Amino acid sequence: MGGSVLVGHTLQVLASLPDEFADCVVTSPPYYQTRVYPGAEAVWGGREDCEHIFELKEHLPEASRFRTSKENGIGPHLNTRIYGNQTTKSGFCKKCGAWFGQLGLEPSPSLYLKHLLLVTKEIKRVLKKTGTLFLNIADSYDSKRLLLIPERLAVKMVDEQGWILRNDLIWFKRNAMPESVKDRWSRKHEYVFFFVKSRKYFFEQKRKTDERVERVLSSISVFPLERYSTKYPDGSKPASLSSIAGKRRLVREVAPLLFPQEEAREVIRLHHDHGRGPVPGDVLEVNTRPSGVNHIAVFPEELVLPLIEAGSPPGGLILDPFAGSGTTLVAAKLAGRNFVGIELVPAYAEEARRRLRDARPYHHHFKML
Ligand SMILES: C[S@@+](CC[C@H](N)C(=O)[O-])C[C@H]1O[C@@H](n2cnc3c(N)ncnc32)[C@H](O)[C@@H]1O
Ligand SMILES: [Zn+2]
Repeated sequence: MGGSVLVGHTLQVLASLPDEFADCVVTSPPYYQTRVYPGAEAVWGGREDCEHIFELKEHLPEASRFRTSKENGIGPHLNTRIYGNQTTKSGFCKKCGAWFGQLGLEPSPSLYLKHLLLVTKEIKRVLKKTGTLFLNIADSYDSKRLLLIPERLAVKMVDEQGWILRNDLIWFKRNAMPESVKDRWSRKHEYVFFFVKSRKYFFEQKRKTDERVERVLSSISVFPLERYSTKYPDGSKPASLSSIAGKRRLVREVAPLLFPQEEAREVIRLHHDHGRGPVPGDVLEVNTRPSGVNHIAVFPEELVLPLIEAGSPPGGLILDPFAGSGTTLVAAKLAGRNFVGIELVPAYAEEARRRLRDARPYHHHFKML
């Protein structure tokens, strides 16, 4: 298992990669007006053959106006903590209209979406036909208004690029930083959109064995089987215990001894359904925690691992076109997948490489059920 972290503008690097090579993309682009990634300015849109003449302005991020707004629940002190005195440069080419600046810090949501769509188009090209895309994105407020950025993006990806949206997973962060707002609820979630290219795609559903079924099965293993060595009390012959029918019969007998009637019935039904718990729901509860990583917007490995395991085969290739400090790539390596990351800021790419050096595939620690 291996991979690499490529340094460069994601649009350019993606363009250099072949069609349909990736099994799964897990990524989190810069959100709209949320953070400054120093050194992440790039050219977006415009004419490729233009010798751009950008009218650049150096300025504090436009974003700071979103953050200082009291409506946003984040005071000016945090504003400076997030942005520092970091300035960014941005502006349009006066010949072709291309924009130079950091993705996420566009002057309007529609321009941000346009740029993101350039990336999702390339992602679609490099994904295998059976490939999956997990796109983590959160919304932003402009003063009082929630902008509906994730929803607008999803609609455009579906309508304009032909993506199939399979789930709008909610990443529920129980411990999200409280906001000091008085006239709405505090935000505790982000989206993870689950997109595919075609109707047939790789997906491995992980259903945990129900704990109560496990309890029944372990009591069966110490059950006085000799009582059943000849005949059941009703005169019928016991099925061999190693057979499915035999096991089911025992589960039907033992479950009511351990659980109240109604619950026992459910346990029996779950056991018949291969002993598995229900199909996992579309809310991923994962707390944020200090990452100890040199990057300001790290998503947790616990969020990413189940996505990779569900959306790609062992040994498959995982791509993150906004790799940052490399969480996706680390999770891919842990899960025994190959990986390619793209990151524009060399220091972040270096951090990703450092983390990757320390990550060891774990699959041999787990036994398959
Ligand atoms: C939200 S962060 C990703 C964080 C990552 N998921 C992690 O856990 O570390 C987005 C990343 O995209 C990078 N980025 C921004 N514009 C880019 C571009 N045009 N090409 C490549 N990377 C870019 C930023 O530098 C930043 O590291
Ligand atoms: Zn130009």
